[in-house]
Amino acid sequence: MKALTVIPLEAGSAELSEVDEPPASDGPVLVETLAIGICGTDVEILTGAYGWAPPGRTRLVLGHESIGRVLEAPDGAPVQKGDLVVGIVRRPDPVPCANCDVLEWDFCRNGQYTERGIKEHDGYLSERYRITPDFVVKVDPTLGVLGVLLEPTSVVAKAWEQVDRVGGRAHWDPKTVLVTGAGPIGLLAALIGVQRGLDVHVIDQMTTGLKPDLVRDLGATYHAGALAEAVPGPDVIIECTGVASLVFDAMSHVGMGGVVCLTGVSSGGHTICVDEGALNRDMVLENVAVVGSVNANRRHYEAAADALAQAEPAWLGRLVNRRVPLAQWQEAVQRGPDDVKVIITVTPQ
Ligand code: BGC
Repeated sequence: MKALTVIPLEAGSAELSEVDEPPASDGPVLVETLAIGICGTDVEILTGAYGWAPPGRTRLVLGHESIGRVLEAPDGAPVQKGDLVVGIVRRPDPVPCANCDVLEWDFCRNGQYTERGIKEHDGYLSERYRITPDFVVKVDPTLGVLGVLLEPTSVVAKAWEQVDRVGGRAHWDPKTVLVTGAGPIGLLAALIGVQRGLDVHVIDQMTTGLKPDLVRDLGATYHAGALAEAVPGPDVIIECTGVASLVFDAMSHVGMGGVVCLTGVSSGGHTICVDEGALNRDMVLENVAVVGSVNANRRHYEAAADALAQAEPAWLGRLVNRRVPLAQWQEAVQRGPDDVKVIITVTPQ
């Protein structure tokens, strides 16, 4: 079968390879891949900046944002032949650490977790893959291929859970949220904010086009320009860019007692000038909390499935703004300024 493979940390090594059928050791559920979403992490892996091959191998099958259809499942499994499903990305570490032991692998304490398509375990960007029933999540069939948005939505569902838990350290009744970045993660974070009845603001660089339109059509307010001028003292800031200057702006401008949740993975290597003393003083005197959030466990996938089921399908359909056939995968990686979520179609419907 065909798979998009890459030699991690070797830029330009990606190719459409002919690989063996998925190994039985990956699990008894056999899934036909319909489509795979491409995100910043995939671009980092493709450009040689991130990623780990499975032990003893040089190539990794890419792809962690998936949607597929079950071809085979054992009797009594929670998924059955024909179901639309998404594969969970992370697997608990083998020790396991205290968190992986209670299925909170997104909080793995020893870093020995694996991630499909990212770290030491083949991803889903192959014509078929195998998986164990406990790592597969059923998707509302009406979503169709848009179920590919479940994984990025799980990441923001976890971020919102962190905001709630940290905010809940005192009386917590947030009204306003600012989301930095109108890419898929920012837009999906904004979607959940709107679903919670909050006054949602999103900031990005584009002044016209799909991103501002998607924000407004959600019922949120779009801003282009400086973070400080977008909205005064929001209760929550969800940072979805990883841009260092925005991270510090978020810490400085969140409201008193507010929560900043960082979800963007920065590339590093950019130095900015910060008055650490003033930042520290303000954060202390205003009880500001900053929390990093990565990955998602099954609870977050389930919350994400609820969020997508409540969303307007036409809005989700516009978020997936480009679909590229597997044979032309290179086009999916070249992102334009107006691209939001580009997906690779593996099995056309
Ligand atoms: C994925 C996460 C993963 C993270 C770090 C993100 O793109 O969505 O599941 O944990 O990268 O590897």
